[in-house]
Amino acid sequence: MPSRKQVNFPRSRRALAAVALLYSLGSAQAQQPSAAQLSLCMACHGPQGNSQMATTPSLAGQPQVFLENQMVLIREGLRDIPVMKGLLDKVTDPEIVALASYFSAQTPVRQPSGTVDNIVYLRGQQTARTMLCATCHLPD
Ligand code: HEC
Ligand code: HEC
Repeated sequence: MPSRKQVNFPRSRRALAAVALLYSLGSAQAQQPSAAQLSLCMACHGPQGNSQMATTPSLAGQPQVFLENQMVLIREGLRDIPVMKGLLDKVTDPEIVALASYFSAQTPVRQPSGTVDNIVYLRGQQTARTMLCATCHLPD
C-alpha cells in the first residue's frame, strides 16, 4: 500500500501552478478586454461569442468561472486546443478575468433546432437523469 507521501497529486508542477492560479484569479483586478483581443476571439467563437462554426463552442453566457478556468488550462497547456496554441501565452490573469466577464455577460443566441429524433432524444433525457448530469450542469 502506498504511503501518503507517494501519492502524487496534482500530477505535475505545472498542474499545481495552474491550480494556484485558478484560486488567485478571484482577486485579480477587473479590467476591459481590448478590442483587438475581442475581435481575435470572435473570429472563431463568433459575434459576441455566439459561435457559427460547428466544432467551436460558444462563449456567450457561459459561467464566468468556467471560462476563466478553461482559459488558464488552455494557456498553461493543460487543455490542448491546437488552433488556440500560443494564443493566450501573453494574456495576463486580469485580462483573462476581463475576457471571461465580457463573454459571460453576452446573451446566448438560441440556435435553430434541427429535426428531433424522438427515440434518441428520449434516450438522452433518460441517460442524463440516471447519470445525474444535472447535479453539475443544471437541469436545462
Ligand atoms: C483559431 C480559432 C480560435 C481562436 C482565435 C480562439 N479560439 Fe477559443 N477555442 C477554439 C476551439 C476550436 C475551441 C474548442 C476546442 C475543443 O474542441 O476542445 C476553443 C475553446 C475555447 C474555450 C473553452 C470553451 C468550452 O466550452 O469548452 C474558451 C474559454 C476559449 N476558447 C476562449 C477563447 C478566447 C477568450 C479567445 C480570444 C483571446 C479565443 N478562444 C480564440 C478556437 C479558437
Ligand atoms: C461532477 C460534475 C459533473 C457531472 C456529474 C457531469 N459533468 Fe460534464 N462537465 C463537468 C465539468 C467540470 C466540465 C468541464 C471540464 C473541462 O472542460 O475541463 C464538464 C464538461 C462537459 C462537456 C464539455 C462542455 C464544453 O463546453 O467543453 C460535456 C459535453 C459534458 N460535460 C456533458 C456531460 C454529460 C452528458 C453528463 C452526464 C452523463 C455530465 N457531463 C456529467 C462536470 C460534470
